[in-house]
Amino acid sequence: MYNSKIAGTGHFVPENVVTNDDLSKIMDTNDEWIQERTGIKERRHVVEGDGNTNSSMAVKASKIAIKKAGLVVDDIEFIVYATISSDLFFPGSSALVQEQLGCKENIAALEVRNACSGFIYALSVADQFIKTGMYKNVLVIGAEVHSTGIDLTTRGRDVSVLFGDGAGAVVLSQTTEERGILSTHLHAEGKHAKELYVEAPSSTKWVPKLLADTDDLSYYPYMNGREVFKHAVTRFPEVIIEGLEANNMTSNDIDLFIPHQANLRISQFVGKRLGLPEEKVFNNIQKYGNTTAATLPIALDEALEEGKIKEGDTVVLAAFGAGFTWASAIIKW
Ligand code: ACO
Repeated sequence: MYNSKIAGTGHFVPENVVTNDDLSKIMDTNDEWIQERTGIKERRHVVEGDGNTNSSMAVKASKIAIKKAGLVVDDIEFIVYATISSDLFFPGSSALVQEQLGCKENIAALEVRNACSGFIYALSVADQFIKTGMYKNVLVIGAEVHSTGIDLTTRGRDVSVLFGDGAGAVVLSQTTEERGILSTHLHAEGKHAKELYVEAPSSTKWVPKLLADTDDLSYYPYMNGREVFKHAVTRFPEVIIEGLEANNMTSNDIDLFIPHQANLRISQFVGKRLGLPEEKVFNNIQKYGNTTAATLPIALDEALEEGKIKEGDTVVLAAFGAGFTWASAIIKW
């Protein structure tokens, strides 16, 4: 029997810091509104010419993760890449990273498009491949560039102030020790797909159709914030308790809870519902906003760097987002 453990983590964010005050210069918003509703103080945006793309940031994060795992690029046998903002419409960024990293010839590269839950879905895929003995070392990436695809005017302020750019990666490695990923639980409810979505370009609304109607702005994300909030605060605790129960644990066993960074208020609410003291809930949304699939690997790497996770700890990851999709991972460190 094999288990899988997170052997190394890494992250990279663009150098360009965009504060709430910076946004208030280009749209009708203000620091107080953003901080009060979301907790976000600033986020990172790529800048044209700075060399930062979805895949290039993922490569930087991956190099750190591979090094921290004590491995070399040649040890990676499979790439699972969670993103909704690939460099290209197709192929996905996993193939680009395989090339840019200089991976061993022809290793498999897979895309996961599950938005904010994408990283846990990707981790779960990697976990299954390791537990069956097919691979020993899998690179799991979460990366996003949102700033180039959001409406940075007053019209789009309800969405655009929330999102940021960045990348995180982990190396998941085979182990025979009784630790690592204890379980993952994945869910979806497609009837809510249009509460949070980007319609175009897509096969139902391809580019010529878009170009023919210059008033058509369906290439910008739409979000019914209140509906997302309402479902998130229910699904988060539900999927965490599902994971804990599957491992005969309760929330008292949690040493660190790392929620997807969608909104500080959601994370605080979920922490309270689980009866966790503030120091057991990791948050970094203040610095980065919501980086969708990248939030969890970035947060995990920072939590480790800050010494918040030690061997033997029970770490819980959970996410909720577009689809709707939601997921949890229970990890014995
Ligand atoms: N600055 C100033 N005012 C604003 C802004 C802004 N950036 N955005 C909206 N407003 C205004 C609105 O126009 C509205 O004004 P009105 O009352 O005059 O009509 C008022 O503020 C309140 O707007 P609401 O949308 O009702 O604000 P709400 O309290 O619901 O907060 C928020 C909005 C923060 C988006 C919240 O609903 C939320 O966090 N939802 C969850 C989002 C989420 O979790 N997304 C994660 C998934 S992302 C993924 O999967 C890709």
